[in-house]
Amino acid sequence: MQRIYLDANATTPLLPEVFEAMRPFYLEHFGNASSIHQHGQEARSAVDHARDSIARMLHCRPAEVVFTSGGTESDNLALFGVLAPGDHMITSTIEHHAVLHAAHSLESRGVEVTYLPVTSQGIVEPMTLLAALKPNTKLVSIMYANNETGVIQPIDALAGIAHAGGALFHTDAVQTAGKLPLDVSPHGLLKDVDLLTISGHKIFAPKGTGVLYVRRSVKLSPMFHGGSHERQRRAGTENVPGIVGLGKAVDVCGEWLKTDGAAKLAALRDRLEAGILTTVHGTGVNGAGVPRVANTTSIYFDHVEAEALLIALDLKGISVSGGSACQSGASEPSHVLTAMGLSPARARATLRFSLSKLTTEAEIDEVLTIVPAAVMRLRELSPAYKVAVATT
Ligand SMILES: Cc1ncc(COP(=O)(O)O)c(C=O)c1O
Repeated sequence: MQRIYLDANATTPLLPEVFEAMRPFYLEHFGNASSIHQHGQEARSAVDHARDSIARMLHCRPAEVVFTSGGTESDNLALFGVLAPGDHMITSTIEHHAVLHAAHSLESRGVEVTYLPVTSQGIVEPMTLLAALKPNTKLVSIMYANNETGVIQPIDALAGIAHAGGALFHTDAVQTAGKLPLDVSPHGLLKDVDLLTISGHKIFAPKGTGVLYVRRSVKLSPMFHGGSHERQRRAGTENVPGIVGLGKAVDVCGEWLKTDGAAKLAALRDRLEAGILTTVHGTGVNGAGVPRVANTTSIYFDHVEAEALLIALDLKGISVSGGSACQSGASEPSHVLTAMGLSPARARATLRFSLSKLTTEAEIDEVLTIVPAAVMRLRELSPAYKVAVATT
């Protein structure tokens, strides 16, 4: 059975060309980028080359790129790197746990945190941010696109408000990188963004790689103490093969964006969405009607346990996710969907389909034959569904 992978927001496969770019840095060019000899200089030059690729993607200076071990570390570095006891931070209720749990930890260290609500479509309204700013607000951290719904925040307006209020602005762009252009230059949409998080494994690079963009004017305290790597912002011997892979993946994603890849992917996602909504009643899209990244759709199937549907689809060779993969195992309904006002039952009835540039039309057609039948079978077994049908 040829499996169909629709869980790209959880992780993406390494592209063969990314793997090939990395291979020599495991075998022949294994030097430590801090060494003075030739082996070291080969590694240093490869890291610099990858840094240039990231800087080109973000329209920033290479020196503003800090390599990390992934999205979680970058989010933590952004928050712990600028906040101190007595500061106030603002974030939202729909952030990834890499931000939310870091914020909880900061609260226990004397940082005051405000969690902004979202609308029923999952948007942080700029006016609610404006109202929450205080004289001691040091940092605002709002994600660019949500990992569960794909909903895109009005980041330019939010960052502009944070700056006008004298605060720094961080955005977790883990689910946006490679899907939308990112421009932090003075002419770019993200001109007021001071810190930005990217994770390698969401964009076809290896797991355990990431970037924190740090605007030159930001004073960042390191979390790790050791050598003077990454201009004293992130100690530790660089993961040279991983960084090379990340640089290559960023180049590949940049080419894909230039050739209208995102529009084609959105059309495929829309076909999947429309196909499910028209053939399966009691369904709907969470975050419909507002801008979303091209690859993601979050769909509720009333009177179905998402976990049961996920397993049924898995048995048919389709990999999808219920809520966020990072929370799998937890039976709590998704904090993102409940923050948007979904009932716990509807949140538990939600599946996330996340496509990638590797998804084909034939795969979507196959999914569209399998999903309606699987939903019908589960509903037939559901006493709650029978009661609901009997009373309508
Ligand atoms: C929005 C968001 N932020 C942060 C992370 C964490 O990234 P990583 O897995 O690289 O630590 C994820 C992973 O799912 C994510 O979706």
